[in-house]
Amino acid sequence: MKQSILSNRKGRLRPLLHFTAEKGWINDPNGLIFFNGEYHLFYQYNPYSTVWSSMHWGHATSPDLLHWKALPIALAPTMPYDKDPDGGCFSGSAIEKDGRLYLIYTGSIHKDGKLEQTQNIAWSDDGINFTRYEANPVIRRPENASRDFRDPKVFLHEGTYYAVIGGSIDGDGKVFLYESNDILSWRYKGIVFSSNGKHGQMLECPDFFRLDDKWVLTFSPMMSPDMKKCVYLTGDMDFNNCRFTACCYDDMDKGFDFYAPQSFLDKDGNRILIAWMNRWLWMPFGEDWGPTEQEGWRGALSLPRRIQMKNGSLTFKLIENVKELFHHKTTIESLAVTEEKPYYTSRDGTCLIMLDFSRDSIRSGMFRINIYENASLIIDVISNNAIFSCENGGKGITVAPLGGDTNHHLEISIDNSSLEIFVDNGFSTISMNVFDCSDTLSISVPYKDATIKNMTFLS
Ligand code: FRU
Repeated sequence: MKQSILSNRKGRLRPLLHFTAEKGWINDPNGLIFFNGEYHLFYQYNPYSTVWSSMHWGHATSPDLLHWKALPIALAPTMPYDKDPDGGCFSGSAIEKDGRLYLIYTGSIHKDGKLEQTQNIAWSDDGINFTRYEANPVIRRPENASRDFRDPKVFLHEGTYYAVIGGSIDGDGKVFLYESNDILSWRYKGIVFSSNGKHGQMLECPDFFRLDDKWVLTFSPMMSPDMKKCVYLTGDMDFNNCRFTACCYDDMDKGFDFYAPQSFLDKDGNRILIAWMNRWLWMPFGEDWGPTEQEGWRGALSLPRRIQMKNGSLTFKLIENVKELFHHKTTIESLAVTEEKPYYTSRDGTCLIMLDFSRDSIRSGMFRINIYENASLIIDVISNNAIFSCENGGKGITVAPLGGDTNHHLEISIDNSSLEIFVDNGFSTISMNVFDCSDTLSISVPYKDATIKNMTFLS
């Protein structure tokens, strides 16, 4: 049986492979970086209860992005610009300069009853103990910007440091751009992206990075008119004139539990993404956070995904070494589905299922995989979609397109209450929390038959 990636993590609903905090509340991943030979993960954290309040930066390190070691809290909300039970040390990012690890984060407080969000710096030489910069805050909002002004993502481009920051002007979402030579003093460059009524009122957790010969902008919009949770745009960037010209635009994930993702480079230079696998209650499908609070924890992070560019669009693929975590492998070749048939998945609620099929051998036009008691995935080769529906957890229906080819490949990661589906090598993905864990799944067809080339269970 697998060990939880953090040995003291307990609970029937608790994922074994996804990062969770031992107790308390977590949301966004922050400050992802490879520093001094290991990966550092920081995250929005309330160690004192399973509800959001007084945000801290929790901290963990890993040699491989899968086995995490919990470290002491990196930032606690103790400074005049971040001490507030209804605020704290909000999201931000990390960068290394001359062997020193810098964090840039939002201090969020209420002053005279009004929200005040500023950007602040902390650094560390050992990667464990952090010192606040005495001249904080280093960035205050532009005069015409609204009070929501947060989540700096810092990066280095051609010798200059830049930071994108999420915000809003008169109810229209914006991404602001700043530049710096030393990470300590910053100049405002302008607005790199405007929602113009199309993308939402406030753009949280922006990220901006180069991939192949394009620039990619991602953000998590609040009150997006078409209910998007996190989106990306690819295009070209002119830093001198602060002009981003986008050509492609799409969802980063089609599930209900994927928000505030942050990307970073792994030690081999691959662009990796990790998101918070939950939702806010202001979202249309928000409802609740599920029953994990009974086990003393709330919130998990997604498994790391590799981002790649294909014809101007992005693919999001599970990192390869996840497969090494499993000890048992069973493959069924040429699986003929005529009537509903159950399959045993794993002993500890954690497995990875991989399926290959060709559209021509699905004579029924579709097949259904019942993953949990109340959740199923329909693969519809007529409309060319993977359709996920669920009655417990991420309630509702969501549709993710299949890739264009006749041959399809699915990867389904089931980790107790955490489900991630990768369609056609990350062409589209669905991330959901589902709270009726089960150790079997079944496959059925509505009529005629379907043949699945092979189905592999890793457990
Ligand atoms: C996104 C977010 C950020 C903010 C943080 C607070 O989920 O709302 O904008 O910094 O969470 O915990």
